Amino acid sequence: MRLKNKIAIITGSGAGIGRATALRFVEEGAKVMVVDIDRDNAKQTAQMLQEAGGQAEYAQADVSDSKAVERVIEATVSTFGNIQILVNNAAAFVFGKIEDTTPEDWQKVLGVNIIGYANMVQTVLPHFRANGGGVIVNVASVSSYIAQPAFVPYNTSKGGIMQMTRCLALDLASENIRVNGVCPGAIFTQASANHMKYIGISVEEGRKLFGQDSPMKRMGEPVEIANGILFLASDEASFVTGAHLVIDGGATID
Ligand SMILES: NC(=O)c1ccc[n+]([C@@H]2O[C@H](COP(=O)([O-])OP(=O)(O)OC[C@H]3O[C@@H](n4cnc5c(N)ncnc54)[C@H](O)[C@@H]3O)[C@@H](O)[C@H]2O)c1
Repeated sequence: MRLKNKIAIITGSGAGIGRATALRFVEEGAKVMVVDIDRDNAKQTAQMLQEAGGQAEYAQADVSDSKAVERVIEATVSTFGNIQILVNNAAAFVFGKIEDTTPEDWQKVLGVNIIGYANMVQTVLPHFRANGGGVIVNVASVSSYIAQPAFVPYNTSKGGIMQMTRCLALDLASENIRVNGVCPGAIFTQASANHMKYIGISVEEGRKLFGQDSPMKRMGEPVEIANGILFLASDEASFVTGAHLVIDGGATID
């Protein structure tokens, strides 16, 4: 029970890594507000958490909309009474070479992946300050620090998240607010399945191809990222701030 009675908000937890994180959090005693732009998926995650014996609620919101974020934080506090952990995980997946991208693509990828994360942090901060501390885990990526072909918008946004995490950690450490990041490699989720479709390969081919990137010769599973997020969110990481935990099966060792 590493998060016993802690109240957590997890964006993008209607699917994939966010949903797996929400499940691990309730298994460890947390109460979870599931936030997603997709209402049906958010509701489904909340039901899964309740069926697993956890306390959970859901809210539909686009994290790039600061007013919607304010409503979600208010709903979390009125439902559970407080908020102690924020996991910023919701992402827009916009790929391509620079000549393939439009201004709208950039608005979208930066709107969700950068401004969305910032909106959440700004809005939870007064609650963390009132509590005398808090924890933020930002989901970044190996794409935060490596270049990949035809990944310009996504990698630009993920690089920005890494710096946001470091800067926030520096500014907030004296207030007992820890801020860390996780950097997943290729993880099998709907987002990666969509990417396989985008490049014109089947899921079976994609799992094999993306798995080849790591010396472990497989893609990761969402729970393998969730476990890293759980560690950083828990008191076991009480002296960890401004750090990035790479979970990529060794794909970026060299
Ligand atoms: N899957 C991978 O291989 C991989 C690798 C590195 C990093 N990541 C990161 O992990 C995180 C989760 O990715 P995933 O693979 O689980 O993706 P996913 O697509 O399976 O899940 C993302 C969820 O975010 C929600 N979402 C999207 N835009 C939103 C918005 N504006 N507001 C609120 N919710 C929104 C989606 O509806 C979806 O439920 C992302 O930050 C992603 O960049 C994933």
